[in-house]
Amino acid sequence: MVPIAELVEPDRVHRSVYTDQAIFDREIASIFERVWVYCGHESQVRNPGDYHTLHIGRQPMIMVRALDGAIRVLYNRCPHRGVQLCANRSGNTGSAFVCSYHAWSFHLDGRIRGIPLPHGYDGTRLTPENPDCSMKSAARVDRYRGFVFASLAAEGESLLEFLGDARIAFDDMCDRSPVGEVEVVPVCHRVMQHSNWKFFMENQLDALHPSVTHQSTGVAAARVERAMKASGQTPPLHYHYLSTFASSFDQWDSVQTINFPRGHGILKGYMGLRPKDPDTQEYVAAMYRAYGAAQAEEFLGRSIHHVLVYPYLSVQSPLQQLRCLRPVAPNRTLSEIWHFRLKGVSPAIYRRSLWYFNLVNSPATMVNADDLENWAKAQWGLESDGGEWVSFHRNYGGDTVDHGIVYSNKGTSEAVMRNQFEAWKRYIGARPGPRESSAAA
Ligand code: FES
Ligand SMILES: [Fe+2]
Repeated sequence: MVPIAELVEPDRVHRSVYTDQAIFDREIASIFERVWVYCGHESQVRNPGDYHTLHIGRQPMIMVRALDGAIRVLYNRCPHRGVQLCANRSGNTGSAFVCSYHAWSFHLDGRIRGIPLPHGYDGTRLTPENPDCSMKSAARVDRYRGFVFASLAAEGESLLEFLGDARIAFDDMCDRSPVGEVEVVPVCHRVMQHSNWKFFMENQLDALHPSVTHQSTGVAAARVERAMKASGQTPPLHYHYLSTFASSFDQWDSVQTINFPRGHGILKGYMGLRPKDPDTQEYVAAMYRAYGAAQAEEFLGRSIHHVLVYPYLSVQSPLQQLRCLRPVAPNRTLSEIWHFRLKGVSPAIYRRSLWYFNLVNSPATMVNADDLENWAKAQWGLESDGGEWVSFHRNYGGDTVDHGIVYSNKGTSEAVMRNQFEAWKRYIGARPGPRESSAAA
């Protein structure tokens, strides 16, 4: 195979990084099964025995609340002959996991609890003290503001080091609650994308595509908004969610991206989310009471649309949305679309962000469907012999680098993709290039 370092150039990448099985296998081993991976929110497992299953890379895992209140992340595999211990997506397993095959049972922290007819093992090397007798744990588990992550690598950077500046995703989400917390909405949309995971991550901060890809939706919503205003009505905020997609290229070009080390990034805010209706005023007043005016304004005034935690999370913190990728194959990516409820706010404020969940992010929307179609067509295009390279030349050399952070001087700069591939090269073991700079610090 061509050395990976030669597949990723500063301004273009070879198509095989989206299509090649061997490269995908290396991504799983070097990235997804090593970095801190999002497992879920602590509110998904409130009580002892509550569990939620997920994949980290190719590994089936169980996030479970143990009897001592700690959250554990265990491999979903019986130590006896390998049967998965939890077959459901989520539930409560009581005070133990019990295997459906031969009834070995395990404490909620994974330790062996009991084996039927245990004398059958007398004299063998399978003793209860043998770690092979217990469920295996993820090497490391940690939480940030209620969001649970695990790493299958015993060593490496801490969760906070991994998140870096992208931790603002979780701060911004929680800080918008008067009590500083969110809880999961227990309905998750799941979409199997027929495309490589990288298309999604690139697309999230791609400000060049919305006014093309989502034009018909945006224009139609804007038409309704105008008609309502003309007849003296105030259009609900959810029309604004859609009509902003049809903003002009110039408007999109003014929305800056900030690109951090490790591929993380921010698309700054472009939607007005502070209408003057009574529900919003009541909410702002509650924030003032909780934090004081200055702090509340800082929390409510952050300019964020998306925060990316590379290589698998897209967090829309102002509207409490989180999308998580679980790559399955070079051309298959499972995406989980989660929504969170701000604690301590009125149902009206909750409904407002629920509208965004259903209107923009759910698989049934007019918005997400257009993105999904593009990514599938991109996959098919790159699987063809119609060309070898993918272009990321837009605004190349025109971005600003300051202390390792790349600021796009143009919102539509492909700095986002160039930055993600710098991180990708590092993870995959290829030597990264120097960060391009027009004003290097
Ligand atoms: S495979 Fe689980 S008890 Fe036998
Ligand atoms: Fe889109």
